[in-house]
Amino acid sequence: MAKLYINETNKLSHINPEIYGHFSEHLGRCIYEGLYVGENSDIPNTNGMRNDVVAALKEMQIPLLRWPGGCFADEYHWKDGIGPKETRKKMINTHWGGVVEDNSFGTHEFFELCEQLGCKTYINGNVGSGTVQEMSEWVEYMTFDGVSPMADLRKKNGHENPWKIDYFGVGNENWGCGGNMTPEYYANLYRRFQTYVRHYNNAEPIKKVCGGPNVADYFWTEGVLETCFAPPHPDFAHGYMDGLSLHYYVHPEGWDIKGSATEFDDKVWYKTLAKAKYIEELIERHGAIMDQYDPEKKIGMIVDEWGCWFTVEPGTNPGFLYQQNTMRDALVAGISLDIFNKHSDRVKMACIAQMVNVLQSVILTEGPKMILTPTYHVFHMYKHHQDADLVESSIDGTKIIGREEEWQVPNLSESVSVSADGTINITLSNLSIEEDTEMEIAFAECQPRKITAAIVTNEMHAYNTFEEPEKVKEEVFDDYTVENGVVKFTIPKCSVMSLRVK
Ligand code: AHR
Repeated sequence: MAKLYINETNKLSHINPEIYGHFSEHLGRCIYEGLYVGENSDIPNTNGMRNDVVAALKEMQIPLLRWPGGCFADEYHWKDGIGPKETRKKMINTHWGGVVEDNSFGTHEFFELCEQLGCKTYINGNVGSGTVQEMSEWVEYMTFDGVSPMADLRKKNGHENPWKIDYFGVGNENWGCGGNMTPEYYANLYRRFQTYVRHYNNAEPIKKVCGGPNVADYFWTEGVLETCFAPPHPDFAHGYMDGLSLHYYVHPEGWDIKGSATEFDDKVWYKTLAKAKYIEELIERHGAIMDQYDPEKKIGMIVDEWGCWFTVEPGTNPGFLYQQNTMRDALVAGISLDIFNKHSDRVKMACIAQMVNVLQSVILTEGPKMILTPTYHVFHMYKHHQDADLVESSIDGTKIIGREEEWQVPNLSESVSVSADGTINITLSNLSIEEDTEMEIAFAECQPRKITAAIVTNEMHAYNTFEEPEKVKEEVFDDYTVENGVVKFTIPKCSVMSLRVK
């Protein structure tokens, strides 16, 4: 028996909707085929965007989309992706499979997609192989509402009004694929490049994201902040930056081997979940360094790449990073999102990598067919946390489980928030593959009148295929009782749940 105590009257921090953000790169079949099929495709589309995928993402309440990369961003030259499609330059996507990139999806198409999705925009600029002028002109092209060479060019290309950039990333992984820089070198470049990311529309300033560390590279965080952190200044929202990124992927067998997405044993199950849980230590330790510079937590930690990275599906292009998605991914998503919620005082955005057909995707496509993955259903159940307030919660009676001493995890994960209308949103996972757990939920004051609950549960290897698209799906959960204000039920092994209590 485990008891979840909720003090819904103690609001701890606001959960930024952007924590439920997504990432789309020019990589494999994410943009082309997954999102964009072109206006002349037989696949039903609106201005080239797949109608089925857009509808599913809207239903999941996607709050933000990051584009165009990733490693691709530091090789992307935005002017190649504007103007008449037939004259756009073609290039080789050297990072990802060496395929021809015809630039038919560019700036205009990205904003069209975000408009259809109704989500915020996060553009990643090129520091690794680009120039200050190129970055500055891109911002002018997208956001300047007046007479200027770039605004005129945008108008000539068919878009009279400027768009809104919510976030702008100044480079990506500049410690690696974005130029192999040292922290000091990147930080100096960051100071220079970000100067020219102008807020043309002062009413809605662009939030600038500085390239942060890979996994546990605390020297990077320290080195970059030492050089680029600047005290608040009237011209800038929070000095030179509004956010610092963090990238962390779960590779069950390490970076070189990674491991199969669908074939794994009990040991690897727990090892994967323990590695997912490790992101909490990363957030706390990088956060402690950020606290030294920014004790008021004005700068967000931007976890703009996270998720499971397995070996590609047999028979697929190794450069396309296409992988299946099982119940194990659902648990990784539940654990990670609970951690982001619980650290929402510092974590202001997180983007799972990547949205469609790449790594831990919420959607997979094959020609005209589309399936929703177990990870999709978790995002769908967790959507009510967006824009809600995190409240105090703790579980008594958790067990530490696992097969190997090094890779043990608590059997339960949870986070709780309160929406503006007073609804209490509880998300809860059972990480065990052998034991169901009896649960009781007690509140500080709430006397539950109405409960709406859902569950994603199955055998640990279960996943959806184009032949069997609904093997893993969200189902209504009504096997609970309420006695004296206490909610009682059994959470099945290997499951992710959500309860909404009024
Ligand atoms: O998401 C795949 C790649 O992982 C991204 O392009 C890069 O930023 C990271 O290394």
